[in-house]
Amino acid sequence: MTAYIPECDIYGDTVPEDLWPLRELRIPYSFIYFNRINSTNDTAKAGDYPDRTAIIADTQDVGRGRFMRDWYSPPGVNIHMSIVLRPVEAEAQATLSLINTAAALAMSRALATATSLDVWPKWPNDVYIGTKKAGGILSESLISGARVLRLVIGIGLNVNTLKFPVPLQDKATSLLIESGIRYKRGDIIALILREFDECRLFSPDRLISAWSAMSKTINSYVPAGGGRGGVARALNEDGSLVIELDSGQSISLNSAGEVTSAPCH
Ligand code: BTN
Repeated sequence: MTAYIPECDIYGDTVPEDLWPLRELRIPYSFIYFNRINSTNDTAKAGDYPDRTAIIADTQDVGRGRFMRDWYSPPGVNIHMSIVLRPVEAEAQATLSLINTAAALAMSRALATATSLDVWPKWPNDVYIGTKKAGGILSESLISGARVLRLVIGIGLNVNTLKFPVPLQDKATSLLIESGIRYKRGDIIALILREFDECRLFSPDRLISAWSAMSKTINSYVPAGGGRGGVARALNEDGSLVIELDSGQSISLNSAGEVTSAPCH
């Protein structure tokens, strides 16, 4: 018998029309919508939200990317969403190390379904269309001792931005710029959440092979820090990237850009 799942709850400010598809989303998420907020990640971390709550903001005043970079968050066009998960103890460790991989794969698969664009996940936590970045993920965890109390997976996706500020123009893109089509943010969020619920339950092996099959990072030349470079060969179970340096040595690079294991010969 299929479980009855009621229509999704959306709390908060008045929801714009292109997010209405979320009301019909029959997967167990609760949404909290804000017209304007500092950062959905900060709000998600500050509240005691239940598992599978998604905080969505139309615009963010202080949207953050990795390394505390600003995340461009104009009103009315893009997706700014933070998913709250309360992992059970057993899955917490496995989930944590590959959660960015699962989210990037989920976003890429969702966009591959919705569009006919050349979408791919770029290590460690970006989503690219062709040669430009369309989305990124900022995952944060709330920990008490050895326990992961909450995971917050922050997703930024450029959906309907038509023109980026000059400093971003060469490197950022959106679904609208690439396809000429104005997508409903609610439809894209629905696809992402469905994919995310699937991908995050994949075994590490399955997740890594699905990500690797879609990512152009594998077998491409990447910087490896300290002026070195090499060919990315594989993704490890801890989310680090195996790089074969020009010297022939292999190293593992973690997502912060640090070498995580000694060079092997
Ligand atoms: C990156 O590419 O560096 C990660 C970008 C993550 C941006 C999203 S937008 C929603 C959530 N709230 C934030 O402040 N950041 C993330």
